[in-house]
Amino acid sequence: MLGGVGAATRGKGNVHDGAYDRRVMRAVSVTRNGGPEVLKVVEVNDPVAAPGQVVVTVTAAGVNYMDTYARIGRPGYDAPTPFVLGGEGAGRVLAAGVGVEGFEAGQRVAWKSARGSYAERVAVSAAELVHLPDGVSDETGAAVLLQGVTAHYLLHSTYAVQAGDTIVVHAAAGGVGLLLTQMAAALGARVVGTASTEEKAVLALEAGATEVVRYDRDSVPDRVRELTAGEGVAAVYDGVGRATFEDSLRCLRPRGVLVAFGAASGPVPPFDIQRLAPAGSLYITRPTLAHYTRDRAELLGRANEVLGLVATGRLRVHVGGRYPLDEAQQAHRDLEGRATVGKLLLLP
Ligand SMILES: NC(=O)c1ccc[n+]([C@@H]2O[C@H](COP(=O)([O-])OP(=O)(O)OC[C@H]3O[C@@H](n4cnc5c(N)ncnc54)[C@H](OP(=O)(O)O)[C@@H]3O)[C@@H](O)[C@H]2O)c1
Repeated sequence: MLGGVGAATRGKGNVHDGAYDRRVMRAVSVTRNGGPEVLKVVEVNDPVAAPGQVVVTVTAAGVNYMDTYARIGRPGYDAPTPFVLGGEGAGRVLAAGVGVEGFEAGQRVAWKSARGSYAERVAVSAAELVHLPDGVSDETGAAVLLQGVTAHYLLHSTYAVQAGDTIVVHAAAGGVGLLLTQMAAALGARVVGTASTEEKAVLALEAGATEVVRYDRDSVPDRVRELTAGEGVAAVYDGVGRATFEDSLRCLRPRGVLVAFGAASGPVPPFDIQRLAPAGSLYITRPTLAHYTRDRAELLGRANEVLGLVATGRLRVHVGGRYPLDEAQQAHRDLEGRATVGKLLLLP
C-alpha cells in the first residue's frame, strides 16, 4: 500500500462530522516520473480532514494538460514520487476538519487545485472549494472549473479583450480553447482559432470562432495578415508553446500581447527581449492561474461568474472523453497524442 500526497493516516486529523469507515481507497499514483505507463491504480490510505480541510467523495476528476507535466516531472510541476496525481474535481462533502465553516456533509462542491484528485476521495483546503449551483452537474463542474477560471482571467485580466478586437486562440478545440473561444466571442471579439483536424476546426467554429486556420498545414501569420488588412491581432492566446511561439509573435499588431499560457508542444526556448522592439513594441506574458486567484474573493468572483454562465446556458462545456481510474494511462495518451477535443474526465 502506498501513502501518497493527499493521503494521511486515519486518526491524525480532526474529522468531526464524517461517519465514514473506509481506511483505504483507489487512486492513480505517479510511481516514478515518465510516460503514461508510470500511472498505476494503487490502494492508499483514506485522506483525513486536517484543520481547514474538507474530505470529498470524488464524482469526477478533471484531466488537465498540467497533469502530464507533473507526471513527467517538469520543473515547477514536479513532486517527489510516488504521489497521487490530479488537481481538479467535483463531488460531495464527506467530512470537514476543525475550523471549516460553510461546508456540510452531502453538499456538492468543485475545486481546481487539490493534489491527489485522481482518487475516490481527496482532502481539499476549504479555501479552494466552490459550491456547485443547481443546473451544473458534478461532471460539468469538474470539467469547467479550472479551465473556465483560466479562460476568465486570460480574457479579462491578462489582456482585457475589447469588443471589436481580433485575437488568435491556438488549439481552439481543446479544453481551454473551446472555453476561450466562446467567452471571447461573447465579449464581441473576432476569434481566429487554430486546430489540427477538420473535426476540431468545426468544433471551434461552432464555439464562435469566425475563422479557423489549420496550423498543421497553413501559415497562421499569413492568414492573420490577410484577415486584418496587414495590421495583425491585439492578442494571441498560446497554450501550445514551442511549436507556435515564433508564429504567434508574427501575428501581433504593434503593442500586441502574446499570452503564452502553456506548453503542450514543449517549453518555449530562452528568448532575447531585444527582439520585441523592432517587432512592434510587443508584450509577452507567461501567466499562471495561482496569480489570478490570489485570494478567496478573486477565486469566487471568477468561479461564480463562470458557473453562472454554464447554469444559464451561455457557456457550453464539451466533455470529450470519460475514463475510469483504470484507464488514466489512456486518458494521458489521448491528450498528449492530440486525439482529444474539449475536456477529459476520470470517473472514480
Ligand atoms: N497558465 C494557466 O493558468 C493554465 C491553466 C490551464 C491550462 N493551461 C495550459 O493550457 C494548455 C491547454 O490545456 P488543456 O488541458 O486545455 O489541453 P488541450 O488544449 O485540450 O490539449 C492540448 C492541445 O494542444 C494542441 N497541440 C499542439 N501541438 C501539440 C503537441 N505537440 N502535443 C500535444 N498537443 C498539441 C492539440 O490541439 P490540435 O490537435 O488542434 O493542435 C491538443 O489537443 C496547456 O498548455 C496547459 O498547460 C494553462
